[in-house]
Amino acid sequence: MKKVTTLNKAVFPVAGLGTRFLPATKAQPKEMLPVVDKPLIQYAVEEAYAAGIRHMIFVTGRNKRAIEDHFDTAYELETELATAHKQDLLALVRSVQPDDMNCAYVRQPRSLGLGHAVLCAEHLVGHEPFAVLLADDLMVGTPPVLAQMAAQFEQLQQSLLAVQEVPLAHTRRYGIVAGEPVSEQLMKVTQMVEKPAPGVAPSRMGVAGRYILTPNVFKHIRNQSSGVGGEIQLTDGIAGLMTEEGVYAFQYSGKRYDCGSKEGFLEATVELALAHPEVGEHFRNYLKNLQVR
Ligand code: UTP
Repeated sequence: MKKVTTLNKAVFPVAGLGTRFLPATKAQPKEMLPVVDKPLIQYAVEEAYAAGIRHMIFVTGRNKRAIEDHFDTAYELETELATAHKQDLLALVRSVQPDDMNCAYVRQPRSLGLGHAVLCAEHLVGHEPFAVLLADDLMVGTPPVLAQMAAQFEQLQQSLLAVQEVPLAHTRRYGIVAGEPVSEQLMKVTQMVEKPAPGVAPSRMGVAGRYILTPNVFKHIRNQSSGVGGEIQLTDGIAGLMTEEGVYAFQYSGKRYDCGSKEGFLEATVELALAHPEVGEHFRNYLKNLQVR
């Protein structure tokens, strides 16, 4: 009988420079920018937790200390809140790091690309499948997108990439995949190209920032030379993995906000504010009365 492996670990590459958000990211991580009242990285960690994952691995770099502090005990703050009998706020602060979740940190010394960042986590991942979540892709789905993928992985036991149909004019922003349909949501990938021009893109299926990968991917990342933009690309590592085992594209149900760009970040802020239990109603009325020309 085939051995069924459950997903236990998630890798969060958070070592990028966030140049599209300068000067906001000059001294603070892009992943700590809040959408309404939660930093981007917390949305991603909550999504992994909802998928049953309890081991969170962060690949950090310079200026990323705030992320470690965010997922640690805030001793002074918690003492102040407890003394002031602010139990709701205390529970909110403590809920960021549930007791059964553990966090590990590893540094990427230079921003050499997403593939290189994932490789930095190899010794913490070991020989088991793992998820990769890019926190600047904020995903909203029911069930959460990574939980949908984890359920599919339980059956398939092979690598999975989250994909969505993207406008032809936007293919340069994505890894684009093509392949053979297996079911309505699933396709076996036969071709994968990083950021192709619309004229040469093999399809309109763009990879979003959620992956479930088998540990064999590490050797394929290690064996490649620099790809597009002089960086070590995760896409090229996955293309290598495809030569020895199946890689599948999973069309998730839900919505992705590209919070690595200003436009996507603003869209997420507006839509999540409208859905927010505390401020949603006020914000809706505010927008209705706004004279937009
Ligand atoms: P991006 O290219 O979108 O992020 O990488 P960036 O480099 O931080 O942002 P810009 O383009 O300069 O504005 C996608 C994800 O991969 C991580 C980033 O932190 C981001 O979450 N990444 C990228 C790394 O961890 N290391 C790298 O060397 C590159």
